Amino acid sequence: MTGGPDEHGAEDLRAVAWGGDHVRLLDQTVLPGRVRWLDIADVDGLIDAVRRLVVRGAPALGAVGGFGVALAMVQARAAGWDQARLQREIDRVRAARPTAVNLAWGVDRVRPLVPRGLPAVVDEALAIAREDGVANRAIGRNGADWILARIGRGAPERGAAPVRVLTHCNTGILATAEWGTGLGVIRELHGRGALAQVYVDETRPLLQGSRLTAWELTRLGIPHVVQVDSAAPSTILRGMVDVAVIGADRITAAGDVANKIGSLGVALACAEAGIPFVVAAPESTVDLTARTGAEITIELRDEEEVLRHGDARVAPEASRGYNPAFDVTPAKLVTALVTEHGVLEVSAGQTPADRFSGERAGSASRA
Ligand code: MRU
Repeated sequence: MTGGPDEHGAEDLRAVAWGGDHVRLLDQTVLPGRVRWLDIADVDGLIDAVRRLVVRGAPALGAVGGFGVALAMVQARAAGWDQARLQREIDRVRAARPTAVNLAWGVDRVRPLVPRGLPAVVDEALAIAREDGVANRAIGRNGADWILARIGRGAPERGAAPVRVLTHCNTGILATAEWGTGLGVIRELHGRGALAQVYVDETRPLLQGSRLTAWELTRLGIPHVVQVDSAAPSTILRGMVDVAVIGADRITAAGDVANKIGSLGVALACAEAGIPFVVAAPESTVDLTARTGAEITIELRDEEEVLRHGDARVAPEASRGYNPAFDVTPAKLVTALVTEHGVLEVSAGQTPADRFSGERAGSASRA
């Protein structure tokens, strides 16, 4: 599942791929210490992998949704499931995680092809992955153009100061089918010689920032420092950051954005500091069936993830944990939403409802 080096010198990793009769996942639970792929041969295994974050990140979960339908069909044939059982198993894949709309969207896009057989289903799932890569590169270009224009930086070759970016969670190749969304924008800035440094929030409790984003940036040769999540507001208010760029798990019609817990604090700090808070995501993350963030289901994860640090319990045995995996940033704090179609200045009143109504956008109903 590895390819050759891409134009930025990084190995062309794939978080998710179809292996003929199984789903192949890059095991993100063991990164950066080990690079290991898992071959997932049944629906239970896929759901377990999604819940344990072997594969994670909204756009990658869209591809998983598509391949999950194919996997259920393979298992149905081997186990002699009838259509009703097959549809129930597909529903289980669709509901494996509730906040990232892309998972349900990927399932819903591929499921209608089940009557046409496995090759048609696999082709559609592969198209999801392919299109995500194309979308992400457009997001990178659109985001870099908007950021450089907004913060008044001209061409770096004419002496313009490079941009200091803060990011949260992981929005790179590991979270997508290819290239990355928020990290795609950062890669594009770097490729243009317009990036100074990235502040990487470590992203408690599962450390997608320090384990995954820092690993990707290291492989790409992009200068970065890892900071604890609680440093972010101070780093921003001390004038050390020009722009924050994050991804999204679900974006509502009004422009509210669900993303990894901690994103909201970054947005509040950006508003206070008067710097742009930029959300980069493909159209498949827009869910027009949700009007506002109040309608988004926030995944609550095991309290143990908060109460432990690695293998060690760090809170008293009697303490209970609270572990929401995502928060919702209100539209008024979202300076720009960058998609493959362009940029919406959300806090200035440009909503996804206005841009995408009448087209398909997050057609999956709420999980
Ligand atoms: O719990 P995770 O790791 O799946 O959360 C991922 C995020 O919050 C990402 O920022 C989001 O899915 C966008 S990925 C391009």
